Amino acid sequence: MLSKRQLFLDNVAQTSDIPLSLEISHASGIYIYDQEGKRYHDLNSGIAVSSLGHCHPAVVDAITEQAQRYMHTMVYGEHIQTPQVAFAELLISQLDDRYESVYYLMSGTEATELAMKMLKRQTGRYEIVAARNAYHGSTQGAESLRSDEDYKAPFLPLLPGIHHIDFNNFEDLQQITERTAGVIIEAVQGEAGVILPAEGYLQAVRERCEEVGALMVIDEIQSGFGRTGHLFAHQKYGVLPDILLIGKAMGGGMPIAGVVSSRELMRCLVKNPMLGHITTFGGHPISCAAAHATLKTLVDTRLYEEALAKEAYIRERLQHPIIKEVRSSGLMMAVEITKLKYLKHIVAKAHELGALVDWFIFNNRSFRLAPPLIITMEQLETACDILLSAMDYAEVKYKR
Ligand SMILES: Cc1ncc(COP(=O)(O)O)c(C=O)c1O
Repeated sequence: MLSKRQLFLDNVAQTSDIPLSLEISHASGIYIYDQEGKRYHDLNSGIAVSSLGHCHPAVVDAITEQAQRYMHTMVYGEHIQTPQVAFAELLISQLDDRYESVYYLMSGTEATELAMKMLKRQTGRYEIVAARNAYHGSTQGAESLRSDEDYKAPFLPLLPGIHHIDFNNFEDLQQITERTAGVIIEAVQGEAGVILPAEGYLQAVRERCEEVGALMVIDEIQSGFGRTGHLFAHQKYGVLPDILLIGKAMGGGMPIAGVVSSRELMRCLVKNPMLGHITTFGGHPISCAAAHATLKTLVDTRLYEEALAKEAYIRERLQHPIIKEVRSSGLMMAVEITKLKYLKHIVAKAHELGALVDWFIFNNRSFRLAPPLIITMEQLETACDILLSAMDYAEVKYKR
């Protein structure tokens, strides 16, 4: 009989020749367990998703209750479903008054797609400005925003009219012009290796957009729902975009994403043309119930505020000669290593010692730390010990 690993390799499509292939048995809190019963500290949260840890009781209860009540009843936006209404009301109560309406989707990349359509529809322009080394998703519109030309080459033609600026370069903002429909930008660049916005940068983007009549979209798909120590990173950095993209941690482990804006802006989907964006499963009641439980837990406990103390603790503990720099915004962190050759050995050794850390798409000198926000100080201490041991190992073994 073929092993499960072989069946996985044979029958489940892969996107790399070196999949992690960790055979999952179950997951709870900050831990993932493999089939042999080995326990791993999940220091990635499935890339900034499991912020309340795995199988948080409030989320599991909400899913179970909703599954017994109803699942799918009608495509998006026709029926009144309590979980959609409840989440939207709670989310909007946590945001600035200008945000009044949520369009639900299933994934971050769809949120990007919808925002791109809204920019065109609202301004009558088609040019979009994005930052280099940003990642906004893997569908063709979102991929058009990617700056890596080699990667995009096999998928051409993608969308015309996309211009790239360097994140944090104030002069580049002159490339936002009267032809620009909008700027799509992360508040903290995630896949570039956690690049924080320079003082005043996001405000300067906002001002330039206003000068030329372009709209500003902030992609908080990775930075949202408490990851940076504030409920949303745009609140932390003091900027109010026209459109907000959310996803990942939103559903507490269930697939859901959203576009948030004023009611007036969202109305562009209703006329010219009607049904400006439609989806069968966007805003699925079970995902919305999970999202509501997740956000309610975050708001009630203010768990995200603890991320700042946890960030400080990690920064203090992670001292090692082969660390070049730690960049962080709350528990969205990148640890940059002095030499490229150490990195893969650190990741592999940490794995062996029971901690999961990960790479970034556009930064091969750093590893990612994005532990669940529920991680305790004791668990962090153990996690840091593992990472330091992995660095000791890489340094000694691969020095030459
Ligand atoms: C900032 C950002 N935007 C968009 C996406 C795409 O989200 P999804 O994978 O849910 O399509 C990601 C995913 O990593 C992301 O980090």
